[in-house]
Amino acid sequence: MALRDILNSGVKLIMIGGKGGVGKTTCAAAIAFHMAMEGRRVLIISSDPTPSLSDIFERNIGSHEVRIHETCELYGLEISSDIVLIRWKDRFGKEIHEVISSFADVDYDFVDYIGTAPGIEEEYMLSFIIELVESNKYDLVVWDTAPAGHTLRLLKLPQLFLKHMEAATKFYMNIYSYFEKLKEAVRLGESKRTLLEIIGSWEALAERIVRFIRDRTLTEYIIVTIPEALGVILTERIIKDFQEHGLYVDSIVINHVIEHEDCEFHRIRKEMQRQYISMMRGQYRNVDIMELYLMPYEIKGLERIEKISQVLFKTQG
Ligand SMILES: Nc1ncnc2c1ncn2[C@@H]1O[C@H](COP(=O)(O)OP(=O)(O)OP(=O)(O)O)[C@@H](O)[C@H]1O
Ligand SMILES: [Mg+2]
Repeated sequence: MALRDILNSGVKLIMIGGKGGVGKTTCAAAIAFHMAMEGRRVLIISSDPTPSLSDIFERNIGSHEVRIHETCELYGLEISSDIVLIRWKDRFGKEIHEVISSFADVDYDFVDYIGTAPGIEEEYMLSFIIELVESNKYDLVVWDTAPAGHTLRLLKLPQLFLKHMEAATKFYMNIYSYFEKLKEAVRLGESKRTLLEIIGSWEALAERIVRFIRDRTLTEYIIVTIPEALGVILTERIIKDFQEHGLYVDSIVINHVIEHEDCEFHRIRKEMQRQYISMMRGQYRNVDIMELYLMPYEIKGLERIEKISQVLFKTQG
């Protein structure tokens, strides 16, 4: 749905993606701020390795949720992959150890080893954020994702989410024969059932996450881009990739648009931009497209963030 319709919808999660440096954090901040000013309880999360929210809001936001506005309910959280991994271990470490140590002699360090498997970090980031969303502590969570490559990898993974752990376990420990024994034990009524239940619960969690991110009434995807060839190509790639995974981009923000051409340099640039903008408008007729002007200053502090949100929320698609 269009950005301006989100306010009165049941959307719980807005994900903002796009190429590096195009204005993702700026747009995420403006959207979160607007929704909070409209009376919603909003959490903005950045999973970027560099602490970008602290920068734009000009206050310290760390790995714990902090309130970033005195009057409206706007909260912020910067979550690094290190912390995600620590939380992943808290959440699953004991279960994993329980599963593996029941058939192999491993100490707890093995959990660390599984934690280094490729993809775990992104997988758990998603799980962590969905759990936050589902906790209903906030009306809306706005997620400023890391640059495009990361986002794509992240979105490719949910289908495999946590099944990966099962697969990793099978692979590393040659679990197949163990599963046969386990099934036999269950058949004979012996007390191994909980292990199958644990693995079952991982799968259930994976399915829940996929259902959530595919539900267009709950999750909204916004791509930020710029009116240049590279921006157009990358947007195309992201949208195609999303579709392949059953996900749909709802809005595109075209940022860095020249508003007034008052010199030759800007006239040429604006003409170049115009072509790419109409190309995208023609290509994505079902997507809400917004244009965001390039301001003469960088976007830092609430006053400028508010300025961006005014442009975003009055732009017609
Ligand atoms: N419309 C705009 N007008 C003026 N400056 C802008 C605008 N949009 C973004 N900027 C500036 O451009 C820089 C990059 O923006 P931002 O940090 O939002 O990009 P990003 O996509 O989050 O980058 P990264 O991929 O590094 O996380 C910032 O200095 C920001 O203030
Ligand atoms: Mg950013």
